[in-house]
Amino acid sequence: MSDTTKQTAAAVAPEQTSSSEEREVLLKVEGLKKHFPIKKGILQRQVAAVKAVDGIDFEVRKGETLGVVGESGCGKSTMGRVITRLQDPTGGSIHFEGQDITRLNSAGMRPLRRDIQMIFQDPYGSLNPRHTIGSIVSAPFRLQGVEPEGGVKKEVQRLLELVGLSPEHFNRYPHEFSGGQRQRIGIARALALKPKLVVADEPVSALDVSIQAQVVNLMDDLQTELGLTYVIIAHDLSVVRHVSDRVAVMYLGKIVELADSTKLYESPMHPYTKALMSAVPVPDPKRRGTKSERILLKGDVPSPISPPSGCRFHTRCWKATEICRTTEPQLIELRPGQQVACHHPENFADQAPQDTVLLSAAKEAVELVGEAVLEKSAETVAAAEAEEAAAEAPVADAEAPVASEGTPDETPEAESGDQESTPK
Ligand SMILES: Nc1ncnc2c1ncn2[C@@H]1O[C@H](COP(=O)(O)OP(=O)(O)OP(=O)(O)O)[C@@H](O)[C@H]1O
Ligand code: SF4
Ligand SMILES: [Mg+2]
Repeated sequence: MSDTTKQTAAAVAPEQTSSSEEREVLLKVEGLKKHFPIKKGILQRQVAAVKAVDGIDFEVRKGETLGVVGESGCGKSTMGRVITRLQDPTGGSIHFEGQDITRLNSAGMRPLRRDIQMIFQDPYGSLNPRHTIGSIVSAPFRLQGVEPEGGVKKEVQRLLELVGLSPEHFNRYPHEFSGGQRQRIGIARALALKPKLVVADEPVSALDVSIQAQVVNLMDDLQTELGLTYVIIAHDLSVVRHVSDRVAVMYLGKIVELADSTKLYESPMHPYTKALMSAVPVPDPKRRGTKSERILLKGDVPSPISPPSGCRFHTRCWKATEICRTTEPQLIELRPGQQVACHHPENFADQAPQDTVLLSAAKEAVELVGEAVLEKSAETVAAAEAEEAAAEAPVADAEAPVASEGTPDETPEAESGDQESTPK
């Protein structure tokens, strides 16, 4: 997306923020869980569960866009399918326009299907190749028994125009269209019944990078025109960056940070958010020359069958200390409009300043973190220095870090704390 778009987005953000806070809540999710049972043996007894979504809370306000990001396997799609009630939740509750829809069966959900729509990632697989575009986009009218004013064909042609296609495409087949055009068809289908909430699961990740911005911009324009509310799921922060009012960052079935978009980008507080952001290329030429802040995350997301104790990110976090291993940090609002679940947040006062000894996994992760990132954390720097000192010491001491996991006794106290409150 262009710099101009970015600047415009930044310029209007404060107003958007205040008005979005006043907006009515459309969707409210509390303690939401989705566990997939793992069964074994002839009796198919449940032996474990994939905890794909493991207790999340958030709201989506009317007219806003909530971006949801996180690495593969963090539970984003599962969350999307559960809030649209394509899958049943295991626990928690979902309210749509104040109505509890958590346990509604398919008959109960039927009238709500008009209001809640989903756009899928794969513009190839999600359109039936044997059906014409007209038949695909008119399917929602048939399924819901709705006769639009002026007839179905006229309405479908209007929808095709709305998404930037020609009404003449009515009788064509999906294979005659490019990926970007197919996704426009998918969008037209999702918008046919004038939904109130659209959940888009990686709507552009299957598309060419050059087309991605066009489709995202189209969704943005349609939002303004039709007053839509979006939940947009993406791997890549750069996709949701400019269109989201707020962003939820997911890690292993949990929301670890939920913040107004501008706050999240200017001053991320969760180390995982910071790591995800550092993977996004900086489009601004003025910032290109600045010190690299790339953070490489070690390994893959751990298994959601038995997630790490305490903070689930502690096995990959360069700031992890004993408290991170033992105590799960709660998602709390540390700054207005910014909720974070971390004992040692970035860009904010340390929440557990007494706990200074890095876990051995954190010491390994530190090696993958750029200098500039480390400079941002007084606590981590102090601990890294202690580590260096230990490495220079006689052999017996040098082995201490491995043995020291869970024994917070050898590293000198970091006195300054993590008092960095100035955003970058
Ligand atoms: N039907 C299912 N049965 C069992 N496990 C499942 C099922 N659906 C998803 N999972 C598991 O739940 C976890 C979360 O999956 P999900 O697809 O929600 O992640 P995601 O964040 O959307 O990942 P991606 O970015 O790759 O799309 C994964 O470990 C996945 O294997
Ligand atoms: S500092 Fe601790 S609580 Fe915060 S993300 Fe790292 S491991 Fe989790
Ligand atoms: Mg997914």
